[in-house]
Amino acid sequence: METKKIYICTIGCQMNVYDSDKILSHLKPLGYNSTDSLEIADLIIVNTCSIREKAEQKAFSFVGRLAKIKQKNSSLIIAVGGCLAQQAGKKILAGRPWVDIVFGTHAIGRLPKMIQQVTEKKSRIVDVKMFETIQPGEFDTDTPCNSDVSSFITIMRGCDNYCTYCVVPHVRGREASRHPKDIITEIKALVAGGTREVTLLGQNVNSYGLKENMFSFPELLRMVNEIKGLHRIRFTTSHPKDLSNDLMNSFRDLDKLCRHIHLPVQSGSDDVLRRMNRKYTRRIYLEKVDNLRQISPEIAITSDIIVGFPGETDQDFEATLKLVEQIRFDGLFAFIYSDRPNVSAARFSNKVSENEKKERLQILLNLQEKYTLQKNQAKVGKIETVLVDGLSKKQVARNSCENDLNNSLDHQFFQWAGRTSANKIVNFCQNNGYKKKPGNLAGMLIDVKIEKALAHSLWGKPVNP
Ligand code: SAH
Ligand code: SF4
Ligand code: F3S
Repeated sequence: METKKIYICTIGCQMNVYDSDKILSHLKPLGYNSTDSLEIADLIIVNTCSIREKAEQKAFSFVGRLAKIKQKNSSLIIAVGGCLAQQAGKKILAGRPWVDIVFGTHAIGRLPKMIQQVTEKKSRIVDVKMFETIQPGEFDTDTPCNSDVSSFITIMRGCDNYCTYCVVPHVRGREASRHPKDIITEIKALVAGGTREVTLLGQNVNSYGLKENMFSFPELLRMVNEIKGLHRIRFTTSHPKDLSNDLMNSFRDLDKLCRHIHLPVQSGSDDVLRRMNRKYTRRIYLEKVDNLRQISPEIAITSDIIVGFPGETDQDFEATLKLVEQIRFDGLFAFIYSDRPNVSAARFSNKVSENEKKERLQILLNLQEKYTLQKNQAKVGKIETVLVDGLSKKQVARNSCENDLNNSLDHQFFQWAGRTSANKIVNFCQNNGYKKKPGNLAGMLIDVKIEKALAHSLWGKPVNP
């Protein structure tokens, strides 16, 4: 079969990373292999996101740049998929004659057919059909997927929560869970290919299986915990309103489950939370955090916060700052509110000015930076088990290592990067002895004594090099 090159540009969340991987698996049987070069690609896929205005702009600007590349290569096929494609549909084709295919979030399984059709008939296609339940071929592929040390796996799609600011329920459709059998089979295949850590993905994993009256999420975790050869399990995202005692206890009971939870709070003000339709109060959130810390004292808690939600007053924002001071998250993603098409908050009055939003974001980030560093510093002197992802990007610039470890010219040093159970990045150096090739530590669990804490990473030395 003729081999062809595919370039995939992925914008957005981990779910899109997983989807891009699936797209590649679906297209391999058609003879496509991936490339990093736009110029030599026969097929370019832009997997888009629509969560905030910025993500949308990024996607449109990338798609715009492709016009020139198509001019030079008229047989090039350009396909725009993902959440923005779902939202904008055929509007993406208008004024962009270089785009051939627009495919929505439920159309990945149908992409190979679309590509064949465009190749044969030179037609343009829009497929943004959505379905209540998971369709055959939506997830499964015959070819094995990429098995990185740490891999993502989507266990459910869609969202039924309709937070008033959020586009996800509109672009990813109704919640539907994959059968545990398929999930386990896919994880086993990943592990056979070298994966040691999986992150189970869903917009609200706490409601996994509820609609289908299948297994609950904690039950699924227990099954995944039994998989041989898998070292670690993570999941994201949990909605605080559905965080059950059973799930909290999993942090105590399951040895492979990493001691980290991402629990987006969005705001510390009850009035804002109500208008966001989050269905919990500040008090309920604080109680859940207390429970989690009682059950698993070492657990790291990270969160998302939106600043400048319509009608957010100075007092509301103060309440958010107080909550952050009280909880001291291990890490925080803070976002400036932006209006999204068709979401109800877009019609709310009392919009906060752009300047005010930027100021609030900066104040919040400055506050959190202090806590992130404090949490990292608390690890200095401790021994942490690190799952090694691979050689660190800075391996080539080894100078810092060499200084650290009193290098002599006879010895080679290799800088590795990985994560702790609490999801903190750790870099460490391996003294490889006299002119030896580096042993491959990727995928191994290594005990590292932490010696230095930076804002976003830790540095240490292996306890038993
Ligand atoms: N399902 C996850 C969130 C997925 S979206 C949850 O419910 O927690 C990731 C984050 O983007 C959200 O947590 C929220 O903080 C942010 N976000 C979503 N819509 C936004 C908007 N319109 N403006 C700014 N930030 C937004
Ligand atoms: Fe969006 Fe809310 Fe669903 Fe999260 S739970 S994806 S914020 S609607
Ligand atoms: Fe973006 Fe869609 Fe993910 S909107 S954040 S790519 S679910």
